[in-house]
Amino acid sequence: MAVYRRRPRIRIVWLTVALFTVVALFGGLGFLMSEDRFPGVVLNTARLDSHIKYLSSLSLEGRAVGTEGEISAVQYIRGVLDTIGFKTTVQTVPLQGVTLPAVNLSIGSDNLRRGQDFVITSEAENVNIVELKDERILYGGYCIKTDGNPEDYDSFCSTDVRGRVILCLVNDPFEGPLTYYGRWVYKVEELRRRGAAGVLLVHTTESAGYGWNVLQSPDGGENIRLMSKDGEEGLKIRAWVAQHIAERILKISIDRAFEEANRGGLCMQETDMILHVRLDITRRELYGLNVIGQLDGSAGNNEHVILTSHHDHLGAIERNGEKVIYPGALDNASGVGKLLELATYFAAMKSQARCCKRKLVVITPTAEEAVLLGSSYYADHPLLPLAQCAAVLNMDGMNVWGPTTDSVGIGSERSTLGDILARAAREEGQRVAPDPAPEQGLFFRSDQLPFARKGVPAMKITHGFSFTNHEQDIDEYLNATVWDYNRNVYHQPVDTYEYLHEQGDPYSGAEQEFKVGARVLFDLLVRGFSPKWMPGEPFARFRS
Ligand SMILES: *[C@@H]1O[C@H](CO)[C@@H](O)[C@H](O)[C@H]1NC(C)=O
Ligand SMILES: *[C@@H]1O[C@H](CO)[C@@H](O)[C@H](O)[C@H]1NC(C)=O
Ligand SMILES: *[C@@H]1O[C@H](CO)[C@@H](O)[C@H](O)[C@H]1NC(C)=O
Repeated sequence: MAVYRRRPRIRIVWLTVALFTVVALFGGLGFLMSEDRFPGVVLNTARLDSHIKYLSSLSLEGRAVGTEGEISAVQYIRGVLDTIGFKTTVQTVPLQGVTLPAVNLSIGSDNLRRGQDFVITSEAENVNIVELKDERILYGGYCIKTDGNPEDYDSFCSTDVRGRVILCLVNDPFEGPLTYYGRWVYKVEELRRRGAAGVLLVHTTESAGYGWNVLQSPDGGENIRLMSKDGEEGLKIRAWVAQHIAERILKISIDRAFEEANRGGLCMQETDMILHVRLDITRRELYGLNVIGQLDGSAGNNEHVILTSHHDHLGAIERNGEKVIYPGALDNASGVGKLLELATYFAAMKSQARCCKRKLVVITPTAEEAVLLGSSYYADHPLLPLAQCAAVLNMDGMNVWGPTTDSVGIGSERSTLGDILARAAREEGQRVAPDPAPEQGLFFRSDQLPFARKGVPAMKITHGFSFTNHEQDIDEYLNATVWDYNRNVYHQPVDTYEYLHEQGDPYSGAEQEFKVGARVLFDLLVRGFSPKWMPGEPFARFRS
């Protein structure tokens, strides 16, 4: 009995030792080979270059929404994704193009000059003429009603604005970075919801963040918007007025107006200006195309991560009988190229069974240039429930001006995506620099926004400005590169493939962005990190 009792014990001891050894060995090897270890990545710059070259070629005529050029771009993007093993879908986005061939707008006894004094569009449905007569303009300051965050602020004070035309300042009165309440888009949504007839947004370069020329360009022609949902009443008039017109209506200087609105306690008030407006409306239906590619995760897992970069650009415009093409090489053929290369990287990882727990969904939305329409449409009609979307990364544009010591996450302070970015940057020998222009509300200006508004943690990854490859003073270098791009190239016909190559070293910076992006995606797709909004973040309440 004693023998029988002892021998099994010895066996148990040996078995335990053996088991530990095996576990330790495999565990160690497992760690070395673990799918959780980032295997490193190089950017195939030749392939990226060929994506950009094709997408920005003149034959695509600037990839305007609903044109042959967009169709060619979509076919190309889809072709690349199909080849590397993504399941692709092209989502048709029903749009309406609105032009106003005849416009008369007067305030008091003055006929205003279209283009110089105001720019205008209409959201009216089912009518070809809009006429508002003897409308007394209501002034609403910033036209904001908050829900206590960042603080209580109410411009409406229970005033019934149904059927009224309201003059609104753009921007917000709050300390710190611009909030969504500051965006003109918020004002339009809020007034539409309250049944107003129209809005006159006051333009100042400072409050809008861009000059009057951006509102008019290109040529103040057609305004593209999503087909309205059944029964939704749009604003009969949606206009921007120049600062001098706002001053004429308010009879005070614009600085005074901002001072008063900033102080708070300014309620909707009648002005003594009467407005007459008459618009002739023509509409056409058109369709934009969102390309969506899915790379499956572990079987049956609908959890996913979305990467976006819009493919549309401004198209071609007739000017003095000549066709002027806007190739949009940097904006945003380069972003799409980078997206395709990230897709290719993760497809290759998957074929080596090193990826992914979650699905990777890449989307190149249409109609970004017309206020994020493609991404908004996708967010309302997602292929996979957005409640199962762990995060959205937008990575458009590209740093063509050389390596930097920093990366930037637009919106990185809003969620723990910021921590993931910080780690990724560190591993690439970079640091994360803060948002360079918090007053401009960049988070609200590109394709991550519609997803954040559905509660999905979202961020746009971009480069910083600490360039390392220059001999002259950094300010001079920036002036000759990034600021020069903003002044002379952005949204101009010279945003071309050749422009990229004139920069000398267009791909070192891009490679850094690519590597940081790949690491962030790796954390989300393979390591399964689940970002959370920061406490108090307004977008958090939309998360289901
Ligand atoms: C509209 O304005 C134009 C010139 O600005 C003027 O000739 C025309 O009579 C106006 N039409 C109406 C209906 O007021
Ligand atoms: C690309 O498009 C985004 C909007 O999605 C915009 O914010 C960005 O400035 C564009 N990139 C460039 C290089 O213009
Ligand atoms: C920036 O460059 C422009 C020319 O592109 C020049 O006119 C201007 O003086 C420069 N500004 C600074 C601060 O160097």
